[in-house]
Formats: sequence, C-alpha cells, structure tokens
Amino acid sequence: MNSKIKIAKLELRNPVVTASGTFGYGKEFSEIIDLKDIGAVITKTITVYPREGNPAPRIVETPSGMINSIGLENKGLDDFLKNKLCSLKKFKTKVIVSIAGFCNEDFIALSKGLNVAGVDALELNLSCPNLNKKIIAQNKKLTSQAVYLVRKYSKKTLIVKLSPNVSDIAEFASVAEDCGADAVSLVNTFYAMAIDIGRKKPALGNIIGGLSGPAIKPIALKMVFDVFKKVKIPIIASGGIADVKDALEFIMAGASVVSAGSINFVNTTSCVEIAKGINRYLDKNKIKTLKQIIGCAHEKKN
Ligand SMILES: Cc1cc2nc3c(=O)[nH]c(=O)nc-3n(C[C@H](O)[C@H](O)[C@H](O)COP(=O)(O)O)c2cc1C
Repeated sequence: MNSKIKIAKLELRNPVVTASGTFGYGKEFSEIIDLKDIGAVITKTITVYPREGNPAPRIVETPSGMINSIGLENKGLDDFLKNKLCSLKKFKTKVIVSIAGFCNEDFIALSKGLNVAGVDALELNLSCPNLNKKIIAQNKKLTSQAVYLVRKYSKKTLIVKLSPNVSDIAEFASVAEDCGADAVSLVNTFYAMAIDIGRKKPALGNIIGGLSGPAIKPIALKMVFDVFKKVKIPIIASGGIADVKDALEFIMAGASVVSAGSINFVNTTSCVEIAKGINRYLDKNKIKTLKQIIGCAHEKKN
C-alpha cells in the first residue's frame, strides 16, 4: 500500500496537506501533532510587504462553516525568510509557501526571494476574495500573466490556487496549465456575507468575506470533477474536507492531494486522522497505490 504522491519535483509522503490560512506557519500545530505525519504544510499566504489585513470582525460562524475576511494579513517576505522558514524546516514535512502579489514586481520578487532551500513548492494564491478588488483568478489575461511570471522566475514546483467565484473554473485551470503550472489548487472561499441584526449592519468589518467549511463541499467537489476532465496536471482539493470520507470523495472525483482547511479550527488533529484513514482504506481494499483511485468516479479520461 502506497499513498505517496509526486507533483513535478515535490514528493509528498501522503496526500494530505493543510489549507493556506488555516494552519498559520505550522508552529502552534506542531505542539499538538507530528507534522511529519502529513504530506505538507501550505503556509498562510505571504505578500512582498507586510499587510495589516481587513478591519475586525474578520470571522463569523455560519450553520455549516465560516465566513472570513482576513484580507491577507501577514508580515511580508523578509520576515518570512528571517523568522518563519527556519522553524518550518525543522518539522520534517514538505513546505509549500503560499504567495500573493498585486503587480508584476511583486510576483518577480516573491519568486526570486523564495528560490531558497527549505521551500519545496509555491502555491500562487490568485483567488483571495477579501481584497476589495477584482480577483486575479477571475480574469484569464491577468491569471496567465501572473502564472507566466512566477514560472519564469521560480525554480520551485508551482501550484496555482483558483477561485470558485467564476462561471467555469475549468477554463481557468486550463489557462494555468498552459502557462506552466505544475498543479492547480481549488477551491478558495466563495463570496459571502452575514448581517448582525443587533447592530443592523454587516457582521464583518469588510462587509463581504469568503465562505468555507462543510457548506461548500458538494460545490467544490463538482468543481474538482469538472477540472479533472479538462486538465492533465494534478489537482489539490479543498472545500469542506473534514474526514476521510470527504477526502476519498475528492480523490475519486480527481484530486491527487486533499487539504484540510476550516476543520483545523474544530479538530486540531484532523489532517493526521485523514492521512491515516486514507492508508487504512487502501489497506482494507487491497489497493496498492493511491493513483489507482484518483479520478476513478469518471467513466474514462481520454
Ligand atoms: C480563516 C481562513 C483564512 C484563509 N486564508 C487563506 C490564505 O491566506 N490564502 C489562501 O490561499 N486561502 C486562504 N483560505 C482559504 C482556504 O485555504 C481554503 O481554500 C478554503 O477555506 C476552503 O477549504 P475549507 O472549506 O476546508 O476551509 C482561508 C480560509 C480561512 C477559513
């Protein structure tokens, strides 16, 4: 039984990773779980310069998930290299650094700056819904420019994170593939909002945010299914994955890797449990490699 997965140069010991923004930079979780039991940590998104993020409140709970409007709060590239990367390296798991930019210079600076040991791959987040501007991953030209630039200046395995807030996410996956992405990651959160009826105002300081958690799972699953039909590069799936059953559904729909996101706020050991559960499933069903079940819910892929 073998649940190892390879995406370009990135070799994961199992197909479970942490969704960006729900696991910090791994430090707090490393005190609770052994990070070598998961495939990789995907860090909180970093930008070239520090960002304060959006005004509070930045999170509201919903009946089956949460809406966040963090707005890419982070301390910037220099701080990441100086203060975060060294501890990430010690965790004996792969490190996928999530990056976001606002102009060509940002993409170049992040790509060059992260061409260092200890960074195993980049996840290019083109899909944050909380920046009060058009999402890059809603525009094919901007998407191709960003992917092209990072591909040109980075030597690392490149994963492109797509937005579900489009009419056909598979078309954007195809653009990413054509511009040199090694994999696509989907989905980021869905535009959403809540009203605080006590204050008679939007519950979030930023008014709108992004919905995640169990509520989005069936929609995200359908998007993974659609993208698998369209592209040849591997898919990293996120969207309400909370247990091994959810993870297996995404794998059978076409995901090579699954990421645990909002569930980390509810169950801090979920990613390890999902990884062990996948191995148990493979064992029990005498399936030799994970690859045998990736996309098996499809009739046949040409
Ligand atoms: C509080 C919070 C912060 C997030 N921050 C980021 C981020 O910085 N970068 C990113 O690409 N995605 C971010 N996301 C999106 C998640 O990585 C994930 O794609 C999404 O939540 C769907 O997965 P889930 O339903 O399992 O949470 C964030 C999600 C949450 C809930």
